[in-house]
Amino acid sequence: PKDVGILAIEVYFPYLYVDQSELEVFDNVSTGKYTIGLGQDKMGFCSDIEDINSLCLTVVSNLLEQNHIDTSEIGRLEVGTETIIDKSKSVKTFLMQLFKDNTDVEGIDTTNACYGGTSALFNCINWIESSAWDGRYALVVCGDIAVYASGNARPTGGAGAVAMLIGPHAPIIFERGIRSSHMKHAYDFYKPDLMSEYPVVDGKLSVECYLSALDQCYQLYKKKVAITSKGMKESAENSLPPPSSVSSSSTFTIQSADAFLFHSPYCKLVQKSLARLLFNDFLSSSSSSTTSPSFNHDDNASKLFADLERFRNVNLKESYFNKDLETSLMNASRDLYNSKTKPYLYLSNQIGNMYTPSLYAGLAVYIFRHKTVDEMLGKTIVLFSYGSGLASSMFSIKISNQNTETLTKIHNSLKSLSTRLESRKKVEPLSFQKMMKLREETHHLAPYEPISCTDDLFPGTFYLKKIDEKHRRTYERK
Ligand code: ACO
Repeated sequence: PKDVGILAIEVYFPYLYVDQSELEVFDNVSTGKYTIGLGQDKMGFCSDIEDINSLCLTVVSNLLEQNHIDTSEIGRLEVGTETIIDKSKSVKTFLMQLFKDNTDVEGIDTTNACYGGTSALFNCINWIESSAWDGRYALVVCGDIAVYASGNARPTGGAGAVAMLIGPHAPIIFERGIRSSHMKHAYDFYKPDLMSEYPVVDGKLSVECYLSALDQCYQLYKKKVAITSKGMKESAENSLPPPSSVSSSSTFTIQSADAFLFHSPYCKLVQKSLARLLFNDFLSSSSSSTTSPSFNHDDNASKLFADLERFRNVNLKESYFNKDLETSLMNASRDLYNSKTKPYLYLSNQIGNMYTPSLYAGLAVYIFRHKTVDEMLGKTIVLFSYGSGLASSMFSIKISNQNTETLTKIHNSLKSLSTRLESRKKVEPLSFQKMMKLREETHHLAPYEPISCTDDLFPGTFYLKKIDEKHRRTYERK
């Protein structure tokens, strides 16, 4: 099938949030550490009444209802999450409660830190493009509750879920043949204590792993674009148009795509990431910036590169915490960041790290941020997915000018994002801390009945009613 991509997208985030500037005062850290240093304004969190199953039940129900999709139309359901509450039973099986008579649904859960959702997505795309496909839709669900022990990682928490309906003839198409991946063993962030929701984190190492994975994926992505472009030129009999990212020039640079979306642990790291792409473009350009092949005689690019010339011999692997380089890169890439990345960090900034849904929340914001559907047509978006441990991929999306009707529906369905976000309830840092303590103490208790109030949920939200003595969870909907 042609044009496999997204036909519908839904985002869920919790009703409660804590203000990061209030948290700075409460945590007794210097003013601006979380808001400027990390680039985070608000952080969403869940009380003991929500768990990973309820989050995913909510986002799937909302997507099906808003798009009038009957569950019999779905043949594959994949969940990406790192919020593990059962070592055997998948979240997917809980979602089957929504599927009534349709039990013929492939797929289970996929886990590797923030990357599980991307793997689930790739499984769905691959299924539709394979001989196993039975003609029905695939549904990808990414969900997580990101909580850290009190300390410097706590302000980088968050929570949320994204569901995406995948099928052929989509308006938001995954480009074929130019996915790049970088997978490696690292102990940067992991969850070895199965009784705790909190990860063990080596913060500095996790940042280094993230940025080095980005370098690797981007370099390989650029190579694959060049190979695909060459292949396209050589095979005259191939009537397929080349992926959009390769159509104008065989050298891919930061200028070749309209937007760059990243997994967002916190917005500041994303800004550094875009800067890093510029550095990679610079290093792969010729030493004379004015004849940079990457930027094809672009005067602006020549200016951007001129300041970077003194870093030409920097060893990439030793440059992740080089402040002088980082400042120059951030300055050189500021306009690019403001136009191609920052506007789409709206949910990340307001909710925090949602783990697996973080990247796809960025995609939802990309659609939401455009005033009209026409403005989006023909645009190319590059996405970078990272999960500690580590697994990472870079891939791209093209907004097609076919099927604008579905694109309009998706656009309309996301219009309520900001009103929903604005209607959340702010909680004092002390109450937030108490809630974290409650989750800590009751996580995995059985039997257990959550004590928090359903008032603090959006209408239509599923919530955990009780856990019985055999650890069996039951849910209700507000
Ligand atoms: N005003 C402005 N900026 C400030 C202020 C201030 N008052 N105080 C500090 N800053 C800046 C620092 O200079 C630093 O900037 P830099 O990153 O450009 O150097 C930034 O704020 C953070 O301050 P640090 O002291 O470096 O922060 P700390 O070490 O306390 O924690 C960290 C940051 C490591 C990200 C921590 O929050 C963490 O471990 N988070 C979880 C792991 C994580 O998210 N890793 C990312 C990839 S893996 C993943 O997705 C889970």
